[in-house]
Parts: sequence; C-alpha cells; structure tokens
Amino acid sequence: ELPAGQRHFLHVDDLSTAEVREVLDLAKRIKATLAAGGPGYRPFADQTLAMVFTKPSCRTRVSFESGFRRLGGHALCLGEEVGIGTREATKDVARVLASMNELLMARLYAHADMLELAQFSKVPVVNGLTDYNHPCQIVADALTIEEVVPDGSIEGKKVVYVGDGNNIVHSWLELACVVPFDFVCACPSGFEPDAELVERVAKSGVGSARVVVDDPTGAVSGADVIYADVWASMGQKEEAATREAVNEALLAATGRDDTLFLHCLPAERGREVSDGVMESAQSHVFRQAENRMHAQNAIMVFCAGAARPAA
Ligand code: CP
Ligand code: NVA
Repeated sequence: ELPAGQRHFLHVDDLSTAEVREVLDLAKRIKATLAAGGPGYRPFADQTLAMVFTKPSCRTRVSFESGFRRLGGHALCLGEEVGIGTREATKDVARVLASMNELLMARLYAHADMLELAQFSKVPVVNGLTDYNHPCQIVADALTIEEVVPDGSIEGKKVVYVGDGNNIVHSWLELACVVPFDFVCACPSGFEPDAELVERVAKSGVGSARVVVDDPTGAVSGADVIYADVWASMGQKEEAATREAVNEALLAATGRDDTLFLHCLPAERGREVSDGVMESAQSHVFRQAENRMHAQNAIMVFCAGAARPAA
C-alpha cells in the first residue's frame, strides 16, 4: 500500500485520460523549467531513486539517472548483483529497496515480477520495461508527437507501428485506452500483439486499435506517424520471420510528406530502418530519446506527489 497521493506507474492506462494529459503537460513544464535554468527546481532534494536492471539499457538508465539528479536527487544503478528473483525473492528485494529510497525503477523480464515488486513496495515503482510493456517510452513518444505536429496534440492522429507485436505495441495499446488517437499495428503473421489488449482499446471507447497482418504498405496510408522498433527484442531468440523494413519507399507510401518517423532505439540501421529514413528531416528519433528524461521526470513527480514547478 502506498501513502495517499502516491502512485505506481506500471502501465500507461494506470493513468486516466485526465491524468495522462496532466503528465504530458507537466513534462512540457518541467522541460521548460530545466531549459530556463535559474533558481533550482529541486523536488527530489536529498532523495534517492533505486534502479534495478536485469536487461541492458542506454536510454532508460541515463534518462532516469540524469533526470532524477537534475531534480535534486541521487539515483543508484543496480544490475545483476541484486539477483532479483534469483539470489533473493522479488518481494524481499521490494521491501529492502523501499526502506531506503523514495522511488524505485526497474527493468525486468517477467511482467509478473514488476507487479510483485510494486505490490510489496511502500514507495512508488516505475516500470522501465518488461517483456510485456514499456510505458515510459510511450509517454515520451506522445510528448514528442505533441512537440512536433503543427496542432500540438496527439489526439486524432494516426500512428502506425511497423514490426512485431511486442512490449512497445502493448504500451501503445494502453495509451489508446486513455487517449483518443488511431493506432495501427502492421505486423507479420504470427507476431500479433495481445488480443485481449486490442479488445480493451475497443471497449474503452477512447482511442482505436487495428492489427494489419502482412501489409505494411497498405497500413501506413495517411499516417501521421510511422514507428519502428528492433526486430528481435531483448531476451528473444532471433526470429526468422520476414519483417518489413521502414525505408524511403514505405515512408512515401503514406501519401504525405509530413509523416513523422519515430523509433524507440536502439535501431539496427539497414535492417529495421534505412539510414536514409533515420537521418531524414522526418525522423525525430533523437528528440524522442531525450524526451525519455522529460517524460519520466513528470512521471516521477506525479507518482511521488512531489512539488510541481511554479507556474
Ligand atoms: N528505448 C529504450 O528503452 O532504450 P534502452 O533499452 O537503451 O534503455
Ligand atoms: N522491444 C524492444 C524495446 C527496446 C527499448 C525490446 O524489448 O528489446
């Protein structure tokens, strides 16, 4: 049980429609506050964030550590030495870490372990990716879209993911449960996302979700955003299935010249995405990576019930 005013962030739709809007607006404000410099905004002064990684990371590690530091705190990065679920039960690690830190962040294999960590933690737990989902990434992606599109809103936009129906897709689906936009997952047959989650979007009555099998070219027509991810996620065996790379031809198949290209990174250039698309004016992948920090700063402030920047 968390104290009143504190929350875990394990799935995007742990937040209501209004709360996602609040977090996105808070991210924009905190980003502007940090950019302006001046008297410090230090909501996490003298606090610590414990981060546990059982999978590799560049962006997640650096964005949480750098972000928490910029907000006045100190982050500890813990790796395999913790032996979460192997050297020691997850529920024991949860209680030990929560007794000495104000916030926890974890990147784990099994989603059930993330849920257990949260269940036994008396401080907020933020999910930094599991085999099932990657909610922080998708909040950063929504922030990026809102910064780039002319009307400043993700609402009503068509976002087409090209690749297998993985953890990234699941968090896009979670977002569509609480934000009104159209999500399309263009995947190879046999790599569809969790059907229950696709169904949940329909039941939400908020966004829309469609799975298009073996037809990325048709799927991207009219897209505001094309999104790609690695072909084989961390911990997955290299799969032999044919996937469609995002290249100049696929980008042109949108029928528009202002479609954004996004990729959560790391990207294998020349495989899931061409060099030309990565470097094109339509690519916003590095803004997207930086926005991990700004989105997560907002998520941490929201979850901890910490002080917001002065208006
Ligand atoms: N996008 C993302 O989560 O990157 P890392 O795996 O490097 O943290
Ligand atoms: N689907 C990828 C995302 C990496 C950020 C993976 O799980 O490896």
